Amino acid sequence: MHPKAGIILRLFREEGGFVSGEHLSRELGVSRTAIWKHITTLREAGYSVEAVPSRGYRLISAPDLLDAESIRPYLESKCIGQSLVCLKQTLSTNADAFKLAEQGAAEGTVVMADSQNAGKGRRGRFWASPEGVNLYCSAVLRPLIMPHQAPQLTFLSAVAVARAIEATTALKPEIKWPNDVLISGRKVAGLLNEMSAETDGINFVILGIGVNLNMTADQFPDDLRHPATSIMLESGSKVVRSHFAASVLNELDKLYAVFLLSGFAPVRQEWQQRCNAGGRQIVVSDAGVDCLSGLFAGIDEDGALLLQTGSGRIERVVSGDVRVI
Ligand code: BTN
Repeated sequence: MHPKAGIILRLFREEGGFVSGEHLSRELGVSRTAIWKHITTLREAGYSVEAVPSRGYRLISAPDLLDAESIRPYLESKCIGQSLVCLKQTLSTNADAFKLAEQGAAEGTVVMADSQNAGKGRRGRFWASPEGVNLYCSAVLRPLIMPHQAPQLTFLSAVAVARAIEATTALKPEIKWPNDVLISGRKVAGLLNEMSAETDGINFVILGIGVNLNMTADQFPDDLRHPATSIMLESGSKVVRSHFAASVLNELDKLYAVFLLSGFAPVRQEWQQRCNAGGRQIVVSDAGVDCLSGLFAGIDEDGALLLQTGSGRIERVVSGDVRVI
């Protein structure tokens, strides 16, 4: 978008109502005819702008774009998202962020895309990534931690997504071990962290976050292993994606600052409070076969699930599916 059109949008936001053509041309240092041309360009880009003689212009609605200009006004982060790459289409934002990190991208660099053709899910699965409806983003982090601590950051991103859902909707998200974010028992977000590491430390971690925001029921693949949903399906209202994206980055930024200062303990505590299994009996299954049951006893430093069996022994679970009973 032309930088002058961006300034017009900022003035619309700041003034909140009609802005006179005279005021716009003074602020932008261009003629009233040039202002009219920029308004036409904004309309072509999907903005609805009312023009009333003697009052000026007023922004009625903005398209639901996921670009840096739409996200920045909501961004309060100090690190995460300060460098923001927004793409119309890509294979996978995780792959893009990984490449940028290898080329030296700064900590906090975020890649976002409107759609992904090869969105990656956990365990080599495909992540459905239709255009114009959801959030697909990946952040580059360079913490001074050991490789075995990297999963702690996935738990951190789950908490950030849950916080962002609470901050922007009236919904009550829960987290299911290891890292699914659920609403009413259905998966609304998935997290995929990838890292580059040596034995004695991490080069970088990519936090990959996918949140189903405005996806409709017919846009979900038929072969999903677990029931899935979107925020719009649960709340009945459309999510403004730029606002939600900024909220996720703001929450990631706050949590990451806490993590760097105080370690995993505060993140773990909040994760456990938000976990759907808190204080409840659970069953762990592997490849569809139930193998352990007991009381949920939290997660350990490495993110392994702790389960207290009937005999009082604590079992450590590193993989499997958890069901709350
Ligand atoms: C899961 O299987 O639950 C994890 C899904 C992670 C999807 C996100 S979308 C943005 C980022 N880019 C990818 O290719 N995957 C992650």
